[in-house]
Amino acid sequence: MKFSTSTLTAAAVLLASGSAADDTILGAFIFGRHGDRLTKPTTTLTTLGAHQLLNSGQFYHARYLDPESSLRIDGLNLTYHESQLSAQAPNGAVIQMSQWAFFQGLYPPLNTLKGLSAEISETEVISLSESLANGTDLDAPLEGYQYIVSQGVDDDAPDTIWIKGDENCPSFDASSQRYYQSSEFKALNASTYDFYQSLSGLVAGGLSKSKLNYANAYSVFDYINVNAIHNGTFAALISDDDFNRVKWLQDRYTTDLNYNASDSATVIGAKTLLAAMYTNLNATLVARKPLLSMFTGSYDTFSQFFGLTGLIDQDPQTFGGLVNYGASLVLELFKTDSDSTPRVRFLFRNGTETTDALTPYPIFGQDVAGIKFTDFEDLVNENAIHDLQGWCSACGAWKLDLCKPLAPTYEAFEELLADKNAELSSTVASSDELAQSLRNILGTDASSSSGGLTLAGAGGIGAGVTIAVFLIAGAVFLVCRKLLATGATKPPVTKTKMENDDLSSTQSTV
Ligand SMILES: *[C@@H]1O[C@H](CO)[C@@H](O)[C@H](O)[C@H]1NC(C)=O
Ligand SMILES: *[C@@H]1O[C@H](CO)[C@@H](O)[C@H](O)[C@H]1NC(C)=O
Ligand SMILES: *[C@@H]1O[C@H](CO)[C@@H](O)[C@H](O)[C@H]1NC(C)=O
Ligand SMILES: *[C@@H]1O[C@H](CO)[C@@H](O)[C@H](O)[C@H]1NC(C)=O
Ligand SMILES: *[C@@H]1O[C@H](CO)[C@@H](O)[C@H](O)[C@H]1NC(C)=O
Ligand SMILES: *[C@@H]1O[C@H](CO)[C@@H](O)[C@H](O)[C@H]1NC(C)=O
Ligand SMILES: *[C@@H]1O[C@H](CO)[C@@H](O)[C@H](O)[C@H]1NC(C)=O
Repeated sequence: MKFSTSTLTAAAVLLASGSAADDTILGAFIFGRHGDRLTKPTTTLTTLGAHQLLNSGQFYHARYLDPESSLRIDGLNLTYHESQLSAQAPNGAVIQMSQWAFFQGLYPPLNTLKGLSAEISETEVISLSESLANGTDLDAPLEGYQYIVSQGVDDDAPDTIWIKGDENCPSFDASSQRYYQSSEFKALNASTYDFYQSLSGLVAGGLSKSKLNYANAYSVFDYINVNAIHNGTFAALISDDDFNRVKWLQDRYTTDLNYNASDSATVIGAKTLLAAMYTNLNATLVARKPLLSMFTGSYDTFSQFFGLTGLIDQDPQTFGGLVNYGASLVLELFKTDSDSTPRVRFLFRNGTETTDALTPYPIFGQDVAGIKFTDFEDLVNENAIHDLQGWCSACGAWKLDLCKPLAPTYEAFEELLADKNAELSSTVASSDELAQSLRNILGTDASSSSGGLTLAGAGGIGAGVTIAVFLIAGAVFLVCRKLLATGATKPPVTKTKMENDDLSSTQSTV
């Protein structure tokens, strides 16, 4: 595997892509994927991955910060100023490290900048040394390494919804479950079974035979891809045909889980990201703070964004493919020289090679050259989820600690009951059985030889009482449900999640 260690100059070749030379760039929002890593789950960003993200940072440095770039963001200083950059990443090692590598390219050490352009020393106050009171002069460490501030987001913090809106989202999980139950899925799982099993010799030691099926399409691809990059013996053993088939099946699987045109819960991560993009770009436009935003996340959000914005419908072949490591999508805020109307355009860069161009695509079926910011605002209002409450509601997530304070009482109560009902349903299938169990526990049925009495006799009176409380709550729930006859009670999705952890791989860390 070859990777490029492109210089600022090499990246500058791609500057002009997708833009008229006389546009004024007012700001940008970048959403990037992490770099090359070991097989999931891992905390290791590889050396290759670090190079990839460094290159990506250099690419955007050359576009948005370099004084010689015609696409330099208006007012953005060459050196780092906290108010000019808004950066966020989930608190996960690979994504965080990827973002630091990106920043090393975006804001390189000051010493390397000094040589780049004579203009810099005139426009920027660069302090590479300082004099202390006792007369000692100190040079900046590490060639003037720039320290970038980024917000790390815990997965139970409210801000987690902007980058990873599909994580811990019961509605998204329920959609995945529906996919696993769909005839499309079942047919593919059956027709590809022999193929997956035939890989067992190749992946022996890494993946067990029981995992070799379409339900684990992402994990199988991930294992094969990582080893094809890092293990020469393995790379020589896998045929191109097998690799491509594993990749194709994974593409299909990932796209189906992250975009279903008849199920908006599948693109929930894009709906929140779109709101974050809007919030930041609006602040860029109105307050000129920040001028650049950089969020780093994972591949599922890309698929969801391509789905939500109509790109998958328009070109399923291209946008149904897993994006490469270090891929980035950008919303660029600009105005043309002919009028002062602020506009937004969408660009995508599928990786970090010097040959990977930042290419404009039309989102929401709009003009590829860009749309007025006010039209963008309308699209956001139609398609985005704007706040935590909206997310909690769309996800049916009122039980989560971050949603509880916002929960309308009724929803919270209904979900609590649904939850109790689910706990019951593993042991009690119907209301007849429920009544029988109640009689057992209360000792009112002579025919009962097991159940509550036995429990109590064994000293489990406390347990019996607890079960009785659950049963009564369950009975109340069943009655209420009949009375309300809403038929809209949400399934206890968090409990039905399949045991196989690979099935949730689209929303685990990276
Ligand atoms: C930022 O750049 C502008 C010119 O683009 C310059 O006037 C200003 O002094 C710079 N700010 C700092 C803190 O270097
Ligand atoms: C001056 O102060 C710095 C920082 O406290 C210290 O490291 C250095 O040794 C001092 N130099 C002298 C000459 O005292
Ligand atoms: C898409 O969603 C619809 C509605 O929930 C569902 O019936 C269908 O099976 C889903 N299709 C796939 C491929 O997941
Ligand atoms: C996929 O097919 C395999 C083999 O028939 C089966 O064991 C597995 O349960 C299926 N997975 C799902 C999610 O249906
Ligand atoms: C590389 O792949 C070969 C073939 O699958 C395997 O036997 C070997 O253990 C792998 N080496 C490492 C370091 O994982
Ligand atoms: C746009 O940004 C400005 C300045 O930060 C803010 O006052 C305004 O409320 C924002 N508008 C929206 C719709 O968020
Ligand atoms: C990105 O590259 C991958 C791998 O080549 C491909 O499958 C996918 O379709 C590409 N996506 C886009 C949007 O170009």
